[in-house]
Amino acid sequence: MHFTQQKRMRVAMIPLMVMGFSLFAVACSNSSNPPVHAASADGPAGISQSQQRRLIHQGKLLFDQTPKEAPDYVGNKLSCSDCHLKSGTAAHAAPMTDLAGTFPQFSKRAGHIISLQDRIQECFVRSEAGQPLPANGPQMVALVAYIDSLSKSQVKSKPYPGRGLIKLPTLIGDPARGKAVYVSQCAACHGIDGAGDPPILPALWGNNSYNDGAGMDNPSKMAAFVSYTMPQDHPGLLTPQQAYDVSAYIHSKPRPKFNEAYKIY
Ligand code: HEC
Ligand code: HEC
Repeated sequence: MHFTQQKRMRVAMIPLMVMGFSLFAVACSNSSNPPVHAASADGPAGISQSQQRRLIHQGKLLFDQTPKEAPDYVGNKLSCSDCHLKSGTAAHAAPMTDLAGTFPQFSKRAGHIISLQDRIQECFVRSEAGQPLPANGPQMVALVAYIDSLSKSQVKSKPYPGRGLIKLPTLIGDPARGKAVYVSQCAACHGIDGAGDPPILPALWGNNSYNDGAGMDNPSKMAAFVSYTMPQDHPGLLTPQQAYDVSAYIHSKPRPKFNEAYKIY
């Protein structure tokens, strides 16, 4: 479902675009200020509208096909859009919509103020079980340009209503009950072994899944995500208790270990 003819053509254009980005990165590396993500309608200073459009396009491609587009920095087979649904635009699936202006912001996990680039690196070392994407490299510039492009209508005083995940009551999940939910509601797509069929059907555990430092490995976060978005063909089917149960079951399964060397992210 991801690889239409049109998309294949776009993929063929990437080498050309990457050359363009390298020039841009070189241009920026002499500056003492890293590129900021607060783009004006015309794009950051010194970038034409067509360059800006190409950056946004490349960023969306990175978001939707992360293992393919950033293989050196991804350790599993998950794309950003496997969790941030509809290319990061679906409400309550931790959307990117109107997000850019909320950074820099205080991070409870880091214990200090972080930038949008820092937050993206967190998802690379945890959810992508990989390595931090270089903060000022062309791929980061493209991802940030894409996220910026989803933030055009942002009004500072009015938070986006679909931000983050939904709030569920705090419950205790039971993995044994969760197994029954998994088998009847999830296994058809994600596999009885949790391996899915990437890149179309993402893995929920095992080598191709997120690591144990990821937000999704927190059963209450997964319960909130799942109760609003899954099963993908019948979202809203699970009760909050079933969402906790199935998350507890998935949490009990093996997955990549978080690399403590990346604890600063
Ligand atoms: C395994 C699922 C998963 C994958 C894959 C993933 N993320 Fe995330 N991401 C999350 C979760 C869960 C949160 C936290 C949501 C919350 O706590 O409200 C999050 C939060 C974020 C945030 C902050 C959102 C906010 O509302 O503050 C950004 C930015 C982000 N991710 C970017 C990315 C990018 C870019 C990629 C791809 C390189 C990516 N993520 C891959 C699960 C994932
Ligand atoms: C009809 C197929 C289908 C069913 C059934 C389904 N999912 Fe998914 N799931 C997907 C797809 C496809 C994605 C990737 C996002 C997208 O494209 O919507 C996904 C993404 C996810 C993710 C985030 C990505 C990852 O791999 O961590 C989680 C967690 C998840 N599903 C859990 C569940 C759970 C739990 C159930 C059962 C209650 C379930 N899904 C049922 C198709 C399905």
